[in-house]
Amino acid sequence: MTKSVYAYRNGVLCAEALPLAEIAEEIDTPFYCVSAKQLQRNYRLFAKPFADLNATIHYAVKANANLAVIRILAECGAGADVTSAGELERALAGGVAPQKIVFSGVGKTRDDIAAALLAGILQINAESLPELRLINHVAGALGKEAPVSLRLNPDVDAKTHAKISTGHKGVKFGIGLEQMGEALALLLASPHCVFKGLTMHVGSMLKDYEPFRLAYQRLADVVGLLRAQGLEVERLDLGGGVGIPYDGQTLAPFADYAAMVHEVLGSLGCALSFEPGRKLVGDAAVLVTRVVHVKETDNKTFIIVDAGMNDLVRPALYGARHEILSVRQNIIGLTAPVSVVGPVCETSDSFGDHFMLPDQLKAGDLLAIMQAGAYASAMASTYNGRPLIPEVLVSGARHAIIRRRIAVAEQMGWESIPDWMVIPRAA
Ligand code: LLP
Repeated sequence: MTKSVYAYRNGVLCAEALPLAEIAEEIDTPFYCVSAKQLQRNYRLFAKPFADLNATIHYAVKANANLAVIRILAECGAGADVTSAGELERALAGGVAPQKIVFSGVGKTRDDIAAALLAGILQINAESLPELRLINHVAGALGKEAPVSLRLNPDVDAKTHAKISTGHKGVKFGIGLEQMGEALALLLASPHCVFKGLTMHVGSMLKDYEPFRLAYQRLADVVGLLRAQGLEVERLDLGGGVGIPYDGQTLAPFADYAAMVHEVLGSLGCALSFEPGRKLVGDAAVLVTRVVHVKETDNKTFIIVDAGMNDLVRPALYGARHEILSVRQNIIGLTAPVSVVGPVCETSDSFGDHFMLPDQLKAGDLLAIMQAGAYASAMASTYNGRPLIPEVLVSGARHAIIRRRIAVAEQMGWESIPDWMVIPRAA
């Protein structure tokens, strides 16, 4: 585990000054616990190396769109990167100033664009020619001027999981180099759009910085080409994608990334933007879950817990492995390799095999699934008739529920049975 606010004190895993077992006692499991201090620390660590550049940080709200999380980061100085009118609404409600919001995504609808323009956000990142036409049309209809950056697809292999690789040819994201000229001509001819610069996002959870270097170099090349044509490029938005260690690995220090950005783009004189998600929130939360059964078979021990793939889908969807710790420290020291699985009726509902956990582990004991701050509660569902689990924020010794449990009875209130389906009862 990297330096973190989650540490054992008196034999119990704590979030900041609060034992996780105490929260479990109060609100029951499973739940997400988020540390305010870790969010603040992560923001500072990201921002510091770029303090000498004209740089802004736009938190990728999709990683965890909880209002309290957005608020904490906004108070640190973060702007927001949003991908829908819904995320825009959340960012604004969380206290992010519209002039600090950028809007990404390949499928922006008329409503998304209108919401962005009416809010007066900093920049819309356009990803295709039809989208440019729509932005121009909506801006014209609203009597607004749309600040637009073009998302370049640099055609680099991000060397991350295929499902979250976004910067190579053949994926839906961005505008390829071969289409850039056409897109730019269209943008410059669009009376209701203003060209602001270029943007890219090559993928998420990059473990090394070489793909970034390649991509940023291509971006710098395009800036050179545009300037040679007399066009000013005000801003470069470098996207997100910096990875974090999930299971004890050591990744290249963030300082290397920052140094590379300085080296490749520092002297261009463009305002730089970053859109980090995972790096700001990934290690700020844990998922606390209780052992329901210990099931021994002839070749495996299954620790069946009360959190499932609906609560944390990353292992099932990307084969991700999150470190798992026992909330009560293993005093005796004996551990055994076990498989930790959820209750959902799919084989994919597994957090993985060969976790070394206390061999005394029994029903009722608590586990913490670590580094569960990014794309965790944000991707939760109610699959298998399960409640949406709560999120708790800890700050020092204080805590508060920042998303309450949404029980199934309440979820059923979202649904209705059409009148015409109701078969009248026999008199
Ligand atoms: N900017 C854009 C345009 C993005 O699409 C994303 C993430 C980010 C920024 C933030 O990337 P980050 O710094 O968090 O890597 N659900 C997956 C990750 C999906 C990432 C989607 N886009 C996971 O659980 O690993």
